[in-house]
Amino acid sequence: MSTVVVVGCQYGDEGKGKIVDYLAPNANMVVRFGGGNNAGHTVVVGKEEYKLHLIPSGILYKNIDCVLGNGVVINLLEMIQEINRLKERGISTDSLFISDRAHVILPTHIIRDNASEEKRKDKIGTTGRGIGPTYMDKIGRVGIRVGDLAQTTYSIGLMIGKNWDLTGIHYQSAEATALAADLKEYYDILKKHIINTSDYINLAIRSKKNILFEGAQGLLIDVDHGTYPYVTSSNPSAGGVCTGSGVGPSKIDHVVGVIKAYTTRVGEGPFPTELHGLQADDIRDRGNEFGTTTGRPRRCGWLDMVALRHAINVNGVDSLAITKLDILDGLTEIKICRAYEVNGRVSDVFPSAPGDLYQVRPIYETFPGWTENSSNVSKWSLLPQAAKDYIDHIRTVLKVPIKIIGNGAERDKIIGSGKEIWDETRK
Ligand code: GDP
Ligand code: IMO
Ligand code: MG
Repeated sequence: MSTVVVVGCQYGDEGKGKIVDYLAPNANMVVRFGGGNNAGHTVVVGKEEYKLHLIPSGILYKNIDCVLGNGVVINLLEMIQEINRLKERGISTDSLFISDRAHVILPTHIIRDNASEEKRKDKIGTTGRGIGPTYMDKIGRVGIRVGDLAQTTYSIGLMIGKNWDLTGIHYQSAEATALAADLKEYYDILKKHIINTSDYINLAIRSKKNILFEGAQGLLIDVDHGTYPYVTSSNPSAGGVCTGSGVGPSKIDHVVGVIKAYTTRVGEGPFPTELHGLQADDIRDRGNEFGTTTGRPRRCGWLDMVALRHAINVNGVDSLAITKLDILDGLTEIKICRAYEVNGRVSDVFPSAPGDLYQVRPIYETFPGWTENSSNVSKWSLLPQAAKDYIDHIRTVLKVPIKIIGNGAERDKIIGSGKEIWDETRK
């Protein structure tokens, strides 16, 4: 058996969905451990494009169990709609399991999310899905969990009333009763999927099954390790796997860190290697860099080794997957930030204060681009020499093997040794 974790090492949208889709055929189970429908994971299979928000990307294969762990926050209505959209496209969701300990996103969480964005001077640019307030209520011990909805509608109404009381929201008891009835209805629809997922995953591990953990978001928007306060409210880092799925750290065998061949960020916050003007527009157009969840244009920039070293350390990355190499085809030159200049001094430390991150000046190395089409090849040896040099440089600086290279959005546009990752880690 092996357990493999896939996590984002930048600001999200690194192409985790595609990498999970690539590794999933060797897995028996795919587990989401954090975030909610702020995530948008795109998988392209032939002419079909799937945009998954809550349901693990493994759902596209038959015979893979898909699990939403306790660390995920769930908008039940959105979940039902996502299930229905998949069913309409002939995808079975029978093997979907939802943790009874996952917290429920309420309509008031969405209102609070948007109201706080409206009021804040230092806007975060959240996805407006109620993610932050739901995690606030979880930590504040006033949240409502999926398993709580097994109780009577009356008891659920009381729980909602208590939540609203403690979070200072004025409510009418009629509103709480109506919402309780809605939640009960959603619970009844989803009931057959709701279990103790930690038990289920641990049983699979004991039965020597292969488990794939599907990260959402990215390390640089992790609430502890990212560019706080411009972050999401969960731990997308590999450490989040254990708390977010109820699996002990001794059970994790291999961590795959996913990076784009350049950098993007959606939402506000510091981004030291950000490009502006025509250069940014060019990369955005080539890479179709518009958010999967909100459709917002993604900010674009060069690769940042200082940030990546930080992400690799925190995630304990064993190997890297680099996506979207093909998007760089045809550029005359490509830059990589090797260090920051901070107050006239060279530094390779990723600062914790956003003020410092806004001040740093990236020190770049420039690499020649390539004119060939990198998406036509299926072997490392056939990649343009300049592309190989670019990737070799990343490998050398970061001191982590690069085992997967994405050279197109479609499922088969990938160069790599995915099976090797499973075989090497087999216990
Ligand atoms: P995720 O949130 O990390 O799963 O990433 P998203 O799905 O939000 O964004 C990545 C986008 O890039 C999606 O539209 C993918 O279909 C696409 N993509 C992933 N890998 C590649 C690749 O290697 N080349 C190209 N051209 N597109 C890719
Ligand atoms: P995937 O899984 C990119 C960003 C938002 C915002 C910040 C906080 O597709 O990589 P939130 O709604 O979570 O409170 O917003 O985090 N963000 C993401 N950016 N990809 C994601 O997920 C993201 N999930 C949240 O844009 O800046
Ligand atoms: Mg995404």
